[in-house]
Amino acid sequence: MFRCSLLLLMLATTGCAPVSAPAASPEPRAATFSPVAETVPALDDAAAVAQARRFFDAVDGRNREVFVGLVSEGFFLFEAGAAVTADMLSKNWKPPVAGAPRRTRTCEHGTVRRSASIVTYVGDCLEQQPAMGKRSAQQWQGWNTVVMAHEDGAWKVVLWEWQKSGIEAERDRYNEAYRRKSAYVAQPNRLLVDTVGEVEPGAALVVAMGQGRNALHLAARGWRVTGIDIADEGLRMAKRSAEERGLKLDMVLADIDRYDFGTARWDLVTMIYAGGDEDWIRRIKKSIVPGGLFILEFGLKDPTDDSTDPFAGIAAGELAPQFDGWQIVRDEVVQDIADWGKSTTPLVRFVARKPGG
Ligand SMILES: C[S@@+](CC[C@H](N)C(=O)[O-])C[C@H]1O[C@@H](n2cnc3c(N)ncnc32)[C@H](O)[C@@H]1O
Repeated sequence: MFRCSLLLLMLATTGCAPVSAPAASPEPRAATFSPVAETVPALDDAAAVAQARRFFDAVDGRNREVFVGLVSEGFFLFEAGAAVTADMLSKNWKPPVAGAPRRTRTCEHGTVRRSASIVTYVGDCLEQQPAMGKRSAQQWQGWNTVVMAHEDGAWKVVLWEWQKSGIEAERDRYNEAYRRKSAYVAQPNRLLVDTVGEVEPGAALVVAMGQGRNALHLAARGWRVTGIDIADEGLRMAKRSAEERGLKLDMVLADIDRYDFGTARWDLVTMIYAGGDEDWIRRIKKSIVPGGLFILEFGLKDPTDDSTDPFAGIAAGELAPQFDGWQIVRDEVVQDIADWGKSTTPLVRFVARKPGG
């Protein structure tokens, strides 16, 4: 799933853009494009997706003959900073033995963009390679870009490019943000500080902990803190800060989508700049003890944005209905400086207490 569009916007203003690819070393052969002739069949969206599919099947099936027929003379794959030509890519291919498990690629979120003589397909693909001999099975998830140009009366693939997507791309993006240190404020979140001021410390879970600014504040106030995040660089920074300050933090390097929050386990769970994923919230609610607290702060969703990405922002009034029966301590939209992005923007601040206790 593509995540964090709001956060990307926030990061963009602070120089935390995705890592840029290094320049290509070998000079690729220029593809030759001829103007679209009347006789050329238009490559509509469905045909473009089908052409990209044929291309992937030829690559994954190691079918050199089909592959060569589909690509332009000037084709190259841009990977790891180098241009790999059709010949370099396919010259050692051995077709898979009939009946043996073969490499597969399933793609979703396909997008097609076009100009007069160029059609570009981008899809989020999961590439799976079965175990072969001594090599164990592997898989990669990434955005596959296939550029097709009209050439000599047919549509040919002129460029293929791959970059990580999903959770691995998310991890890279945040690791880079933590290394740069410029995208966020280093102080603990104000809503958290104010809310826990008078609360008796207990067990706290800091969801998407990052470099630990909020977890460390809680630990310093006597909370037993567990923090979870996928960004190993963030966790490393949190560990270092905890050691310097003589504080204890339990840290979990994991994808929250797969994390077991438990049942009636936490006196406090925070989601500070951690999106508004309904499934996370549903599981978190179950994990909070009666009388325990849930605290969230995140950017307000742009009402014109129809994205379902939980990191695209939270709509006004979206959270309270998910906390039916809970005491809503705070539910407001304020114009304030965001901890991430550090610019003035509308923010959702939400605090709820579980009944009982
Ligand atoms: C904007 S940062 C906020 C960090 C911290 N809560 C703070 O306020 O400083 C979002 C964090 O969510 C983490 N994250 C995003 N998706 C995640 C996932 N599926 N599982 C675990 N962590 C995730 C990122 O690695 C990043 O550290």
